[in-house]
Amino acid sequence: MKVIVTSNKEVAGKKAFELIKSAMDNGAKVLGLATGSTPIPMYKEMIASDVDFSKMTSVNLDEYVGLAPEDPQSYRYFMQSNLFDKKPFAETFVPNGKAEDPEEETKRYNKVIADHPIDLQILGLGRNGHIGFNEPGSPFDVETRKVQLTESTIEANSRNFENENDVPRYAYSMGIGSILKSKNIVLMAFGKEKADAVKGMIEEKVTNDCPASVLQTRDNVTVIVDEDAASELSDSSVDEKLN
Ligand code: GLP
Repeated sequence: MKVIVTSNKEVAGKKAFELIKSAMDNGAKVLGLATGSTPIPMYKEMIASDVDFSKMTSVNLDEYVGLAPEDPQSYRYFMQSNLFDKKPFAETFVPNGKAEDPEEETKRYNKVIADHPIDLQILGLGRNGHIGFNEPGSPFDVETRKVQLTESTIEANSRNFENENDVPRYAYSMGIGSILKSKNIVLMAFGKEKADAVKGMIEEKVTNDCPASVLQTRDNVTVIVDEDAASELSDSSVDEKLN
């Protein structure tokens, strides 16, 4: 795991975009993408650039169960409005929140991932250390499944909904096992509210209680955090600083 601390999230977004470009220069065809506020600066860089993604495929991490693609709170809608409508990809995959049969949907999505092995996976980080929607306690070896969200995630994500009761209680999420199959992984986290999770991910023991801590066991992972998210790290954990 390589740890980069940046002066702010815009610098982090630029760095993450550079990593995407170098992966593409090295033949990457499939990007694993994430939602949430964290990847937005990187998506802005992608949109502002003249890089052509029209031959690329994207596979998203997760989707709320029950939300239709055209629902403004859905992750499909987020991806369309924050990236795909402005930077077309050849093919884009997001789990279908409206699927009738959850078991069939998770099977379908696992096949999507198997047919489109991810070259570079982008991750955010939950305040409780979750990646995708793999909440504390999640096993490290599972594929896509339907998961129940924790109260802390429901509360954190309620900022995007009118009312906490509107936040779906379940989601489809790539499992940690699927995420770990990616050739390379870039995780970003910004802000003081992520500082505990960042410390747990990088400096504490590898445990299912902090799902992101499994990334310590891989050398194909780059973590890019701003100074606030890095505020609980010791200097020896940091490999590079960027202004
Ligand atoms: C959600 C998503 C995660 C994301 C996390 C952090 O729970 N499922 O993939 O990383 O939120 O969100 P934010 O980037 O807005 O802090």
